[in-house]
Amino acid sequence: MKGIILAGGRGTRLQPITNYLNKHLIPLYNKPIIFYPLCTLMLSGIKDIGIVINPNEREFFEKLLGDGSDWNIKISFIEQKKPGGIIDAISYCENFLNGENFITILGDNIFLSSRLKDDLENAKKDFKGGCTLFSYHVKDPSGYGVLKKNDSIFEIVEKPEKFVSNLAITGIYIYEFNSIEKIKKITFSHRGEREVTDLNNIYLKEGNAKIKYFSRGYAWFDVGSFDSFNEASNLIKIVESRQNIGFGYPEEVAYNLKYISKKKLENLILKVENSEYSDYLTKLL
Ligand code: DAU
Repeated sequence: MKGIILAGGRGTRLQPITNYLNKHLIPLYNKPIIFYPLCTLMLSGIKDIGIVINPNEREFFEKLLGDGSDWNIKISFIEQKKPGGIIDAISYCENFLNGENFITILGDNIFLSSRLKDDLENAKKDFKGGCTLFSYHVKDPSGYGVLKKNDSIFEIVEKPEKFVSNLAITGIYIYEFNSIEKIKKITFSHRGEREVTDLNNIYLKEGNAKIKYFSRGYAWFDVGSFDSFNEASNLIKIVESRQNIGFGYPEEVAYNLKYISKKKLENLILKVENSEYSDYLTKLL
């Protein structure tokens, strides 16, 4: 399977910062937001990753991530001409995917759990086609795609105005390659986007969508707003400074997965010398 991170879009809710900086490059606690979804994909065992970006922002992403060789993975950048929604961004990845199934993660979605690796690996193993969606119970579901159940039939309602359930659909999805053909037929919604919820509802209707649930032991954030951004940042800081458990360090993930040697890790630490980031990585040795 290949992996896709969506890091385009306008980031309007984080203006004025996003007027000069792509949302996914803003620091969340001590590292850029994009490190977290990158680590999520790496933990699932995926090594070939495409990152969808806006055309004028390539140099910043390249400077930060390079081609992935530091972590012994492969990173390619795919330009979305203009923000047209989540599945519009995915549609630009047809050539990159080259017929393979894939996991997509939204670049502003942060998953914190010691179970993430096992759960994603298992979901990948269980994947037989169609799509797999991941739901999470939230107190206020109004800003998400939300699962509605009528008898045994599921449907997702995007940002419901009236309460339908507390089950949000998170920003990590597994799709078959053929989803690209389905996406091509989906038109733009009233808010000018091609909606991921429309694609997921097609799969639900066909009976080809599997829903998995993240439960206790998970923290999930969509850091598209300042409040959730701060909450995630604080939680990451607390866990790291009290328990010395870090999240979002690609060097650590690559080292634990044995993608890189101890010597290579030592060299990577030298690149970020004299920072708290390097202090954390040094403790791994
Ligand atoms: O976070 C989960 C929610 O994400 C789901 O529950 C919703 O069903 C789904 O529609 C989505 O809602 P958002 O309104 O939060 O999506 P947003 O517009 O913030 O885009 C999510 C990410 O995708 C963001 O990190 C930027 C990227 N993106 C977005 C657009 C519109 C692109 O790469 N290209 C785009 O054109």
